[in-house]
Amino acid sequence: MSHKPDPSKNVNLTIDGIPVTVPEGTRILEAAKKVNINIPVLCEHPDLCKRALCRICVVECDGRGKLVAACANDVWEGVNIVTINQRLVYIRKTIIEMILANHPQDCLNCIRNQNCELQSLAQKYGIVSSSFDNEMEEHQPVIECDTIVRDMAKCVKCARCVEACQEVQTIRAINTSRRSHEYEISTPYKQPLKDVSCVFCGKCASVCPVGAIYGHDQTAEVQKAINDSGIKTIAQVSSALTPALEKELCLAAGAVTTGKMITAIKLLGFDKVYDAAVTANIANSEIIREVQARKNEAERAQLQGLLSMQGLLSRPLISGCSEGVTRFINQFYHDLTDDLTGVKSPRYIFSNLLKKEYADKEGLELSNVTSVSFVPCIAQKYTEESDKTDLALSAAELARMIKLAGIVIENLPEEQFSQMSRSLESRLLVSNDSLNLNLQSQDNSLKKVTVRSYAQARNILEAILKNEYDTQWVEILSCSGGSCSR
Ligand code: SF4
Ligand code: SF4
Ligand code: FES
Repeated sequence: MSHKPDPSKNVNLTIDGIPVTVPEGTRILEAAKKVNINIPVLCEHPDLCKRALCRICVVECDGRGKLVAACANDVWEGVNIVTINQRLVYIRKTIIEMILANHPQDCLNCIRNQNCELQSLAQKYGIVSSSFDNEMEEHQPVIECDTIVRDMAKCVKCARCVEACQEVQTIRAINTSRRSHEYEISTPYKQPLKDVSCVFCGKCASVCPVGAIYGHDQTAEVQKAINDSGIKTIAQVSSALTPALEKELCLAAGAVTTGKMITAIKLLGFDKVYDAAVTANIANSEIIREVQARKNEAERAQLQGLLSMQGLLSRPLISGCSEGVTRFINQFYHDLTDDLTGVKSPRYIFSNLLKKEYADKEGLELSNVTSVSFVPCIAQKYTEESDKTDLALSAAELARMIKLAGIVIENLPEEQFSQMSRSLESRLLVSNDSLNLNLQSQDNSLKKVTVRSYAQARNILEAILKNEYDTQWVEILSCSGGSCSR
């Protein structure tokens, strides 16, 4: 019978000769971190379960020849662990060289150059080339949509993406297939992601250690629009993007203010930079109105004895932060498709309402205005409708443009958001603080639940289908791990 660890008990051991005391059930990797020893990892990820596939993290225990994966094994009383010696370095170098023998090694052309866990490991172990023959299989990068690119030639088969998709998001669009040297990561029948259950949340890209799955870079398309003198380019950005931008630019917290970000975007050549809070407020207020209308309708029906309250409570409105949420409901909860909100995303509102307003004011054809929404999470880049004059860029893409332009954002003066015309402003009432207060009070009076993964969403939706959950509004945030502040 396996022993269940008791975290209230302590375990004493040594790591590289240093005494350590940790709770029972602590993994070797975590115990080593406690004394500032960083054992190298590749397949391990702090947000995912242990898989122990790559064996980079092997250590020796009690001087025995047997190697133990530090990411997957707990410490035990009295064990002496060695994390570094000649033999372990040789083993790790050999594993890295074997991976590189099946890798394109085109780091300079890779989107993850200088931000790649395999490249860092190769550098750490002084590997400049593989001593094994390169046996790389032919694969071409596949642009799956505006959100995701898959370049399986670079896959190190760590299966992080599979676990993220299957266990965290419960979508199961990608899986492992075949065995041994034919082992690979694939979609069912190798179909494009759009033809399988993928909801383009980007979770797989956020955990991939290399450039095998990543957010589609559309900076060249935006730059083309900016460089075209016949095209005006307008942007919307939220203040909530600044922490992600700091992270992407490796700057300290607080180095990028909203005002500096606006100045940087204008320096990149954008004609106007609007506050994304405007369209977010419009979308939110419309959803609240929709929920309120349903609530009123339900109360009226109940008064007339047309429906039982139990029946009504099972039909909350469903909204989401991305179009992937609609895809999720359509695929997995067909019975709830009528309960999806009809309100469009802030990005859609920007490209249809504000862009039109701007084009009218400037006397331009709508096709001569490109709107760009800077979004906190790559899930929000996904759209069913492909319109090349409406683009969304992530914080990583904005950071790339800023770096390429040589802009030192932390030294910039601060500018204000562009103002929309008074007529539009008064029509939308967005500058009126009372709208926000009104929205907040209505929001608070409604029964609302917000979930931050598709796994959580499933739990709520299953309960709703069984009439076991009482709410009027389900908000699904498909979060891929970006800087979403909601
Ligand atoms: S984008 Fe999301 S749903 Fe699609 S494969 Fe990646 S993790 Fe799965
Ligand atoms: S695509 Fe990335 S995350 Fe998935 S197995 Fe390959 S290297 Fe790992
Ligand atoms: S990091 Fe431990 S086996 Fe991969």
